[in-house]
Amino acid sequence: MMNKDAKIFIAGHEGMIGIALVRCLKTAGFNNLVTKSFSQLDLTNQSEVRKFFLQEVPEYVFLAPIKEGGILANTNYPAELIYTNLQVQTNIIHFAWEIKVKKLLFLGSSCIYPKFCPQPMKEEVLLTGLLEPTNEAYAIAKIAGIKMCQAYNKQYNTNFISVIPTNIYGPYDNFDLRTSHVIPGLIGKFHQAKIGKKEEVIIWGSGNPRREFLYVDDFADACIFLMNNYNQSEIINVGYGKDISIRELASIIKEITEFDGVLNFDDTKPDGMPYKLLDISKINKLGWSVKTDLKKDLKKTYIWFKEIEEGKQNK
Ligand SMILES: NC(=O)c1ccc[n+]([C@@H]2O[C@H](COP(=O)([O-])OP(=O)(O)OC[C@H]3O[C@@H](n4cnc5c(N)ncnc54)[C@H](OP(=O)(O)O)[C@@H]3O)[C@@H](O)[C@H]2O)c1
Repeated sequence: MMNKDAKIFIAGHEGMIGIALVRCLKTAGFNNLVTKSFSQLDLTNQSEVRKFFLQEVPEYVFLAPIKEGGILANTNYPAELIYTNLQVQTNIIHFAWEIKVKKLLFLGSSCIYPKFCPQPMKEEVLLTGLLEPTNEAYAIAKIAGIKMCQAYNKQYNTNFISVIPTNIYGPYDNFDLRTSHVIPGLIGKFHQAKIGKKEEVIIWGSGNPRREFLYVDDFADACIFLMNNYNQSEIINVGYGKDISIRELASIIKEITEFDGVLNFDDTKPDGMPYKLLDISKINKLGWSVKTDLKKDLKKTYIWFKEIEEGKQNK
């Protein structure tokens, strides 16, 4: 269990999940949080990261920085993705060991699981088949991070755990329509259509694929729970536990954004995998489950996004 005054380093605290971790840790009463912005500390810089760890000596580490960018980045910049992510996580994991942190939590991703694996995806399916090629650079770096944590646990008896999140969404998500994930992409699209008084929104694909989404505060809550309650090398999934079709999701977002035009699907465009859902029975058995509701959390996310957009227009 982390003491309320334990020194906790949140690496990547300027990202969506890092921001939520800081917010939830503070709300839970943790009062000794350490953060460094990207401009103060580039985590690919080995000597600077070492210096930071030797100076600060955190007791707990949440490892959340990432260089991402969806299919576009995986296709166009796989070298940058694999270099940055391997470098960042290698530096943090290694120096966390060197200064003997009590515990480190590494964030994986559900794209580490084989492209064709039984659904819902259990932790055991890792490395049982080929990856989705469009995610490879990112997924290989994540798998290396998990294996590195496990190797350090084995050889050095560290307590480094790896958590596998489903798709996370919420405030501070990436709403850039060129690189955004499903939820921010849909919110941005419907919002633009509403403002532009468009008559129709067209979504790529049939709308039938089913996906799982978890609100970022729920995910941060699960990470804090696991930091306090999970001490095994084996990876552990964190998800919402239920999936939703893109069609249903788009209808909810259409309603929330109050877009009153027509929603259509372009089924000449590819669909991707029909299902993607994590099996969360392991974390459920430990005593954690989702607290909130998709529609309410989508609404909170939209309210946040709208305020940011309105703020930009008023500048
Ligand atoms: N969001 C999801 O749906 C999801 C799903 C599965 C797993 N995850 C994992 O969860 C973690 C957090 O994700 P997120 O969505 O919060 O990501 P995010 O919003 O992109 O945040 C990542 C942060 O890391 C920073 N960063 C990147 N390279 C850095 C470097 N060299 N030195 C210092 N900081 C650096 C980024 O700064 P810049 O923005 O300036 O580059 C950004 O602030 C990641 O490990 C990600 O793989 C996320």
